[in-house]
Amino acid sequence: MGDLMDDIQEKKYDVLVIGAGAAGMRAAIAASDEGASVCLVSKSLLGKAHTVMAEGGAAAALGNADERDNWKVHFRDTIKGGKHLNNWKMAKIHAEQAPERILELERWGAVFDRTKDGKINQRNFGGHRYPRLAHVGDRTGLEIIRTVQDKVIHQDNIDIFMECTVATIITEDNQAVGALAYYRNNGEIVAIHAKAIVVATGGIGKAYRVTSNSWEYTGDGHSLAYLAGADLQDMEFIQFHPTGMVWPPSVKGTLVTEGVRGEGGVLLNNKGERFMFNYIPEAFAAETAKDEKEANDWLKGKEGAMRPPELLTRDVVAKAIMKEVKEGRGSPHGGAFLDIANRQDADYIKKKLPSMYHQFKELGDLDITEEPMEVGPTTHYMMGGITVDAETGASSLKGMYAAGEAAAGLHGANRLGGNSLSDLLVFGNISGRAAANFALNTEEISFSKSKLKKAANEIIDCFSDTKTENPYHLHRELQDIMEMHAGIVREEESLNEGIEKLKDLSRRVQNAKATGDRSYNPSWHLCLDMKNMIITSLAVAEAAKERRESRGGHTRLDYPEYDKELGTLNIIIRKGPDGLNIVKSDKKIMPDELQDFVMREAV
Ligand code: FUM
Repeated sequence: MGDLMDDIQEKKYDVLVIGAGAAGMRAAIAASDEGASVCLVSKSLLGKAHTVMAEGGAAAALGNADERDNWKVHFRDTIKGGKHLNNWKMAKIHAEQAPERILELERWGAVFDRTKDGKINQRNFGGHRYPRLAHVGDRTGLEIIRTVQDKVIHQDNIDIFMECTVATIITEDNQAVGALAYYRNNGEIVAIHAKAIVVATGGIGKAYRVTSNSWEYTGDGHSLAYLAGADLQDMEFIQFHPTGMVWPPSVKGTLVTEGVRGEGGVLLNNKGERFMFNYIPEAFAAETAKDEKEANDWLKGKEGAMRPPELLTRDVVAKAIMKEVKEGRGSPHGGAFLDIANRQDADYIKKKLPSMYHQFKELGDLDITEEPMEVGPTTHYMMGGITVDAETGASSLKGMYAAGEAAAGLHGANRLGGNSLSDLLVFGNISGRAAANFALNTEEISFSKSKLKKAANEIIDCFSDTKTENPYHLHRELQDIMEMHAGIVREEESLNEGIEKLKDLSRRVQNAKATGDRSYNPSWHLCLDMKNMIITSLAVAEAAKERRESRGGHTRLDYPEYDKELGTLNIIIRKGPDGLNIVKSDKKIMPDELQDFVMREAV
């Protein structure tokens, strides 16, 4: 062990940002603008992150495509889409600041699609009252990450550690003071002393078998924060995006952007019926239509002036597809048909949806300008995450902040498409600034050698000869458990079974074995990722058991309705001396003025 300790590099920064998707990069830019020295740790190569999978656009009430739009309507849509469980302060800040963050990106070089009069163009997306998504064809996330990446690498005081994974957050006196990380390429271990930490590690798609997420999404930030002592909340709310590829099997789960539906694509079952008309919630039709006749027409399948039912919120569309499949009306490979070929001409499709065109051509040998796609739900996003303060992004652990998908609150029980890109810009900026200000006004606390030694030992523990479990098998088992027991629909007995299986897996993962040495060793990385995935998955399953109602992304077959009391509370996961504890938050109370606006005004 003496050798290992001698080999550990030691670095010091004001702010450590863990995760280099656009949330992490935006936080790093903000922290460096405040004058802090910043270390940005990227698990992958810089620029490769799930941000790119928000393809269809970034929601911001610029009012370019419909001048009736404004922050208040965006706020209301976000709260309604989140089934009123959102942190209202976050929803307000987000709606107010999103337009400025988009315009700022444009100043930094992002090239958005334009309206005829040269403004940033905006498209329709589910749950948004007006066309609100600033977009670049169907490559918006890519353009955003490219833009912030360009900005990051030109800032003087940001060091970037690429292909580097944080394995532990170190605390002293209940304060986050740094982290221990390892380089994936050569296995070197680095201790990063930091006065403040921003966690921006994204979600946990890889705990599920069918997912739009890539290999990095293993719930690291949730697990690191939980183990360090920060609260998690809303972990039961996982978003299953309604449209992932279902065929061929090798690419099952790959995202098919909501932009297809935003550009007029419709969902059909195997009888050729536009089935989404059968799933419009009656109360929603009544509240959305201008009069009873319009509501009735809509419910009977006449689109008229109303929005296409394919643009109902994602939770509704995903469950509708599942039901069609279950009742025998699915497509040949267990999904639904998504048809844009008969709704737009080929040139328009290629111009507005170029990635979809190539994706289906190259991966599925299908021309979407001529034939419908086959699509089905795919694990896409976590609404839950680290509990944060709306104005600063501060977690409940001193010195730790969170932003983007790793943080909770903004989206409540269900996220509207397009709100993640604006979320990460708004709250990346806020948390980076707050972390820098905290760091610049705080004395450094160095971490003890004993903690460093313990954490370093844990990183290499899986190389021990006594270990026997194959991490790839454990991963497969985890994905089966999550799909079966904590998937789109849940119920108590099955959740209990799933929790027992997860507990068993968490014991077995202590025995996971890495073969070979520390350079370029995916089996070692998976042993460590598995620990995070299991902790985060257990938090998901325990919270899902506790929320005995159906709301947004969380559907309980045994509790199919809303529960009034639970609708005012968040479920908090907190580490206690005996393991995971569940507590309920205080009641959330929105100021009357905003509440009235959300509830009363016609949408
Ligand atoms: O469908 C999409 O383009 C995804 C967008 C999002 O998740 O925000």
